[in-house]
Order: sequence, then C-alpha cells, then structure tokens
Amino acid sequence: MAKIKLLVYTAVLLLHLALGDDDDVTVESVPYESPTASKDIYFSEHFDDASVLSKKWVKSNSKKPDVDEELAQYDGKWSIEQLEKFPLKGDKGLVLSSESRHAAISSKLNRPFKFDQTKPFVIQYEVAFQKPHTCGGAYLKLLTEGPATKDLSQFNDKTPYSIMFGPDKCGPTSKVHFIIRHKNPKNNTITEKHCLKLKTEETIFTDHQPHLFTLVIKPDNSYSFYLNQELQYEGDLLSDEDFDPSINPPKEIVDVNDVKPKDWDERAKIPDESAVKPDDWDESEPENIPDESAVIPNDWLESEPTHIPDTAAVKPTDWDNDMDGEWEPPLINNPKCEDRSGCGPWSRPLMKNPKFKGKWKQPLVDNPNYRGKWSPRLISNPDYFNDLTPLKSSPISAVGFELWSISNQIYFDNIIITDNELQAEEWAKKTWSLKKKNVSQESESVFGAVLRYTNENPWLWAVYVVVVAITVVLLVITCCSSTKDKSTSDESRKKTDEPVPDVEDQIDNSEVVDTKDNKSTDEDENIDYEETEQDNKDQVPSSPRKRRTRKD
Ligand SMILES: *[C@@H]1O[C@H](CO)[C@@H](O)[C@H](O)[C@H]1NC(C)=O
Repeated sequence: MAKIKLLVYTAVLLLHLALGDDDDVTVESVPYESPTASKDIYFSEHFDDASVLSKKWVKSNSKKPDVDEELAQYDGKWSIEQLEKFPLKGDKGLVLSSESRHAAISSKLNRPFKFDQTKPFVIQYEVAFQKPHTCGGAYLKLLTEGPATKDLSQFNDKTPYSIMFGPDKCGPTSKVHFIIRHKNPKNNTITEKHCLKLKTEETIFTDHQPHLFTLVIKPDNSYSFYLNQELQYEGDLLSDEDFDPSINPPKEIVDVNDVKPKDWDERAKIPDESAVKPDDWDESEPENIPDESAVIPNDWLESEPTHIPDTAAVKPTDWDNDMDGEWEPPLINNPKCEDRSGCGPWSRPLMKNPKFKGKWKQPLVDNPNYRGKWSPRLISNPDYFNDLTPLKSSPISAVGFELWSISNQIYFDNIIITDNELQAEEWAKKTWSLKKKNVSQESESVFGAVLRYTNENPWLWAVYVVVVAITVVLLVITCCSSTKDKSTSDESRKKTDEPVPDVEDQIDNSEVVDTKDNKSTDEDENIDYEETEQDNKDQVPSSPRKRRTRKD
C-alpha cells in the first residue's frame, strides 16, 4: 500500500510542479486573529506581540541560593516563536528555548486576585512539548502578593506562590501539579499541600501538540481540572483524601504514649486444653506408602543404565590432564531406553496411606479472654484548626514560570486568569480550539503534510523525480518480462541482510507490481515516517535497526 501511496503522491506533486502554480500548493490554514479579553480581566496573554517579552514580562536574573555558582544562575532563554508544527498564521507563544538551565519569567496581573469566596478562580493556559520530553516541568506559579512580587527580576524557587499548577515529567514519572501553599491560621507557618488527584495521559508529553490546562476553584472550595476542555477530576479542597497533607489537620490523632497492656489477649481462638488424644490415634503411620499392587512394566530394562558415555565425543586438543583432570566423555541418554517405560532399577510408585492420621492436635475453641485487636487511643489534636477559606490569606498578584528542563522548545500560550468560566471558554474558542482545528485539518490531509515537509526540504523534489523515473522504467521492464523478473528480485532480496519481512509486508509486496528497489524502499520509509510522526515514534518498528536493538 505504502508504495502505491508514494506513487500517487509523487504523481500529484509532479503535476503541481508542472503546472507551476505555487500559491495553490500551500494548504489553507485556519484563519486566526489575536484574541482580545475584556477590560476587567485579571490577566490574559496571547504572546502574539513579541514586544511583551521586554514590556509586560520580566525575565529573572536571580540566583538559586546554596547551589554551585555556575548552575545557580537563572539564565535560561525565553523567546516568542510560532508553533513548530501546524502553526496558525500570526499566532505565537512563549518558548523556553534553553536546555538544562534555570529559567524564570513572570508578569504582574492587571489587579490582584483575592480568594474571598465570592467568585470562582480560573487559570487556563496551553502547553506544547515540541521536542521529545525526557525531564522537566511546564507548570506555572501564581505568586503571592507581597514584597517578593515587587521586583520580578528576582523571581526564583523561593519566591512565595499561592498555587502551582501544570504538568511535569521526569523519566517514567509524570504528574499534573496542583500545590497550595497554605498558611496555618494558628501560627502563620506555611506548608505546601499537594493535590494527589490530578493526572494526565503520557501522550501529552509525546504528541508534540498544544494541550489546554484549566483549573477552576469555586467559592465552596470545590475544584475542577480540565485537560483540553474535558473534565478530568472534580474534588474538594477540604477533603481529607485530596491533599497531602490535608489542608486541615485531623481533629483527633493517635496517642503515641498509649501502650498495649501486657494482659491484652488478641487471640480469637485457642486450643481446647481439656481435649485428649483418642487411644486409637496412631501417629506412626506414614502419609504415603508404596503401591503393592503395582508391577514392573513389561518393557522396562532393569539391566540398562539411563545414561551412557557418548562414544562419538573426542577429547579436546587443549585438554590438560594435570590441569583439568582425567578426561571423560560426556553422558548422553541411553538410546536403548528410548520408546520404553524406563531403564535401571525399578521401584514401586507411592500411594496415599489410608491409615495415615498425622500428629494429633487439640481442636480450637473460642477464647473467653479475647479482647479484639488493640489500637492506641485517640486524643484531640493540639494542632487542629478548621480553615474554611484556605486561600483567603494568599491573594495573588503575578503569574510566572520557574522551570528547569532537559528538553527545550516547550511552548506556552494563551494564559488567562479570570473569575468567569465562560470567559475562559470564549478565550479558548478563539485560540486553542483554532489550533486544534488546524492540526486535525492539516494532519488529515496527508498530502498537505508531505507537501509541507517537501517545501521545507526542497531537495526531496529531486528525489521524487528520480523515484518516478525509476518506477516508470521498472514498470516497463515488468510488463515486458514479468515472470523472469520476479525470480531475480526474490534472489536479490535473499542476498541482502534485510530482515525477513512480516506477513503484512509480504501482502503489501504482492499487491504491488514488482517495483522493489533499494532506493525506493528508503524513500518509502521516509515518507511513512513523516505521515506517522503524530503518533508515538515507537509505533514505527519496521526499520531493521530497531529490531536488532530490541533483541539486545
Ligand atoms: C505551627 O503549627 C504547626 C502544627 O500545626 C507546627 O508543625 C509548626 O511547627 C508550628 N510553627 C511554629 C513556628 O510554631
């Protein structure tokens, strides 16, 4: 099939080339216009205007305390770029373009957001992992109003935040953070409370597409996490199970000073001490006895050993009797015993002994002193508090990224902070939804993808021409001498060290007229790869090199 496709593409491409109608060749992308948010919005950013990087946003030049001088510096690179794949015309985003550097950037909100339990809090933004993502975060921090947000150029990992939200992955561990830095109302100490409930599929780190993250916190302390506008989890900030540690400590705690009394009996059943062994209980009978009714099979050869020395074996030339001992040929199965019940001494098989009783034990009875499983008593928790407004003391006045990532080119876009869920939806409609539409439109049109790739790599035009020329020549040869040609091509395949093709491949080959040629195979793979690049790369196991490494 792939080869037929290639032929079709090549033909269509050549047609376009011949017509020379260049404008017609580009696939129409979804029209995009930078969105405008309402005046009263707390914060919105579409990054389409590159000048915001120096005006509205502040890059950190802070240093990480107590770390090696060279590694401590916040010197990661931020830039404004369009998406690498399927960009909308005129749409740009913030890109973390450096690898393995501390990078922080932040911006003031239009006005601080106060969690006064009268309105929802909504934070929404886009992330695209444009390179294979091995380790690094892509979360944002909502910085707590206070002295630290006065000078954002000093934004670092110690800068107080109220909420941290977004994806993170290192090696096999991936998560969606939702952390609240909660102020203890009794003594004002701050503790990070980690939500345990938000998760994402691995594919968001591998598909290189923009994904939309939304967190909504409502005045009743319920919260919702949406990925790509689909609800993933709905919970309660104050639930004991949602956060670790829970926002509010437990009312009662275990008394660590309580100890189990010595006479506490936890045995539900005990042996019946009054029971005695019956007189006829014989403990000496074995469990199994030889089966006296068994007889030796007729074909059993008692005089033949089961194994004999291998007479064909020869002593190795480098065998040293002093070092290795006297050489003896290895033993092999005695061929005389093949197809027989057995050889060598015969013994009766064992059978269950009907008289077997085993060791006598006293039967178990209920324990009159049983008091159940002991557990320490609970006492009221001296640190207990019940904060019903867990974010009230942490208003936010800035938003930023404070990240470190091994993989670069992480793309962020369309941040919005609002107290109106509809506003966030509208914003997504004008931004992320268009991107998504564009991706599906363009990736559906495989032709478009091939075309784009070719336009970026113009040398491919030459390859197409050569491939078509070869194909035509081969087609001509094939139709003139089909049977003879088939056998030669089979032979030539055997000579190469290519892996034996899968059944599927063979079906493919049989569908196609004999156009098998090393050169065209290579091209074929290139193009297949380009088509499937949206998928996980592991799904392209057809290259011989991959197979070999797998064996290792
Ligand atoms: C505040 O209270 C918590 C327990 O609720 C305790 O762990 C912490 O040490 C206290 N901090 C101060 C400064 O007293």
